[in-house]
Amino acid sequence: MVRFEEESLTPASPTAQYLNSTALNVCVIAVLESQIPIDDSRAVPLLRTLFLPLNPRFSSIMIEDNRGNKQWKQVEVDIKEHIIVPTFPSDMSLESYDQYVEDYVSRIAGEHLPQNRPLWDLHIIKYPTTNSAGTFVFKLHHSLGDGYSLMGALLSCAQRVDDPSLPLTFPSSKKALKKDSIFRRFSQIVSPIFKSVPDFGWSVLKSTMMKDDETPIRSGDEQLKFRPRTISNVSFSVSTIKQVQQKLGHGVSVNDVLVGLIFLGIRLYMKEMESESSSKAESTALVLLNTRNVRAYKSVNEMVDTKGKTPWGNRFAFLHIPIPKLSDDDRKVISEPLEFVWEAKKMIERTRYSLAVPLTGMLLDVVNKLRGAEVAARYVHDTVKNSSASISNVVGPIEQVSVGNHPLKGLYFLHVGFPESLTITIMSYIENIRVAFGVESGFIDVHKFKSCIQKSLQIILKAASD
Ligand SMILES: *[C@@H]1O[C@H](CO)[C@@H](O)[C@H](O)[C@H]1NC(C)=O
Ligand SMILES: *[C@@H]1O[C@H](CO)[C@@H](O)[C@H](O)[C@H]1NC(C)=O
Ligand SMILES: *[C@@H]1O[C@H](CO)[C@@H](O)[C@H](O)[C@H]1NC(C)=O
Repeated sequence: MVRFEEESLTPASPTAQYLNSTALNVCVIAVLESQIPIDDSRAVPLLRTLFLPLNPRFSSIMIEDNRGNKQWKQVEVDIKEHIIVPTFPSDMSLESYDQYVEDYVSRIAGEHLPQNRPLWDLHIIKYPTTNSAGTFVFKLHHSLGDGYSLMGALLSCAQRVDDPSLPLTFPSSKKALKKDSIFRRFSQIVSPIFKSVPDFGWSVLKSTMMKDDETPIRSGDEQLKFRPRTISNVSFSVSTIKQVQQKLGHGVSVNDVLVGLIFLGIRLYMKEMESESSSKAESTALVLLNTRNVRAYKSVNEMVDTKGKTPWGNRFAFLHIPIPKLSDDDRKVISEPLEFVWEAKKMIERTRYSLAVPLTGMLLDVVNKLRGAEVAARYVHDTVKNSSASISNVVGPIEQVSVGNHPLKGLYFLHVGFPESLTITIMSYIENIRVAFGVESGFIDVHKFKSCIQKSLQIILKAASD
């Protein structure tokens, strides 16, 4: 048990309130694949000494005061309540356990965290898969912090396997790879306002009057947020992506290649599932942009202390990026797949430097102030619901790390609870980039989708080498 002052209330930030409201209930799932069989006997003391002290929100619940404002209230934490160790049949093949893990994570993705205790759980899966000897699955409510804060928190419990005394390094902290991340320091960016006004207009317009077409990736189901999801993932090697990047040159980043190949994979899937009409349908991806001035993760202490500012928290904005269309001519798909990468680069660049990000944030603030957090949350909900997919990206360390003496082979995350049929997350770790996706069960064929994403990489790789 951890004791805190009885009446310590901290107001929840507006974003934290949107993310837990009647309209939205969004969680982050972090998956840590252990290289060795998991010894869970030390889980409770480790969580108590390492994890809980990271941020008071990990030991707080969200309550509503009598004026309807949400507050964080510190409580005693019974850590055992937060640890779940599932039992699967024994002596199955690794491939069957892959499926068990996917099914298990899909199931917990659809469950709500109990609101009467702090908003996180740790699932310890003590069965081997093709990638791991055991899997830790952290489920954390998104109102606790964004992907950056939460990953930063988890990573501050991690140590380098090669030398625990050295700090972790990240692709973005290395000069040569500076462009890898969508996260940009936009505080320094002076963008011509002319360029951003249409962006802002588009963004507002998009979310006030237009919605994407119904396609094989967008069911448009009214009850979408209650429908079950199926979770899966693919992994790419960083060196393959870099091969494409180098072939393309001209300032193309790893990130541009990834977004381009996901866009192409999405169109391939739509084409395979249906009619040509779907290759021309209006589909937009919401790219969730981290709006911090970051080069690498700071330790959580630094994150909370930088002179009055608290970078900890939820700082993201969403940008609408139209998914490029396939051309009519089939042969063109094979000759012009690189267009998807160029197009992705162009769109990301345009939006990255635009003021649309702060303006969209300001609009939300205004809605929040005038009409309250619930209305602002509904605006976010409708914006996501009117689009076809969301894509978010977090960079991970380039060295292998261990957590509680378990070296990790894989490390990635997922977003669950957005009202859309397709949610995509990207994370790099050591030599791998993991693209994880949650799809609406019974609507998107997860196996076919996975193979289209893999096929897309092959097509792009081939086009880049020709
Ligand atoms: C989250 O929102 C729901 C709906 O408003 C509410 O019932 C619940 O108490 C909230 N939870 C927290 C943690 O505020
Ligand atoms: C990701 O894919 C691997 C390999 O198929 C599998 O073992 C793992 O369970 C998957 N993860 C999730 C969360 O579905
Ligand atoms: C979503 O689209 C519908 C139909 O076009 C529109 O009525 C609604 O205002 C849109 N809402 C938001 C916030 O995007």
